Amino acid sequence: MSSKDRTASDNSMKDLFYSHSGNLIHKWDHYLDIYPTYLSQYRGRRPTILEIGVSHGGSIQLWKQFFGNDCQIFAIDINPECSRLEEEGVKIFIGSQADANFLNEVAHQIPDLDFVLDDGGHFMDQQSLSFEILFPKVKQGGQYIVEDTHTSYWPEFGGGLRKDGTFIEKSKALIDSLYNYHLFEGDNVRTDNITQNIESISFFDSMVIFQKRLRAQPFHKQIGKKTINPYVVPEIKKPKSLSERILAMFSKKQAEEIHPFVRNDGGIDEIK
Ligand SMILES: C[S@@+](CC[C@H](N)C(=O)[O-])C[C@H]1O[C@@H](n2cnc3c(N)ncnc32)[C@H](O)[C@@H]1O
Repeated sequence: MSSKDRTASDNSMKDLFYSHSGNLIHKWDHYLDIYPTYLSQYRGRRPTILEIGVSHGGSIQLWKQFFGNDCQIFAIDINPECSRLEEEGVKIFIGSQADANFLNEVAHQIPDLDFVLDDGGHFMDQQSLSFEILFPKVKQGGQYIVEDTHTSYWPEFGGGLRKDGTFIEKSKALIDSLYNYHLFEGDNVRTDNITQNIESISFFDSMVIFQKRLRAQPFHKQIGKKTINPYVVPEIKKPKSLSERILAMFSKKQAEEIHPFVRNDGGIDEIK
């Protein structure tokens, strides 16, 4: 779905934003096209939300308008001034998203969440720690959204192109974890309760969205009548160089393990 289609099908968040006259909100315009794809499902369904980064409280007002006044909003900000913005249905915790004890305490006090939105300090350690502690609080089928991930490319936020430890590099590494069932023995990727519960990762300009759902071991299956002789990839026969021979020996070692494709084979129900 293109951004244009999305806007055509649900531009109400954009309309609400551009007609907003309440407390100050600060959003990139294109976020308002992306959010409805993931979040419209919660409209009128009293979602439970956690937003990191309150600022003037404008986004809290926008969420109330978009999801309904009876949604339950939890928010975090380092600025004690923000506690003035608490109101019915809005609980604000004052502390730093870079403080593990504080985040664990918040996590302990709040119910499971439909989605988390990290629009806080945008430093690498803040985004990473918050993700590790708060992703487990997201319900199955929910989302963990990190905004303004362009800071992963900005030195003043601890970023830099392909620099180790940025939130974007962390998110890229989590793509490998999505493929854990297709890897060979000894292939080293992160596999734990968090990675096992990431169903998909969507990368946008300045935003990363993690869709949460427990992944079971996948399997492939063939059903139906065979109709053609399958294409066989021709083996290229030519004298092998030393490096090619070493490579071939290494591949042979791998071939002795069960190939992941075989491991995930659900069999064939062939109709004659
Ligand atoms: C971009 S503003 C939030 C904007 C708001 N969500 C909106 O859409 O209008 C970022 C907020 O994060 C807060 N902040 C900065 N560092 C923080 C930290 N370490 N922990 C929690 N909040 C932090 C700032 O005080 C500020 O209010």
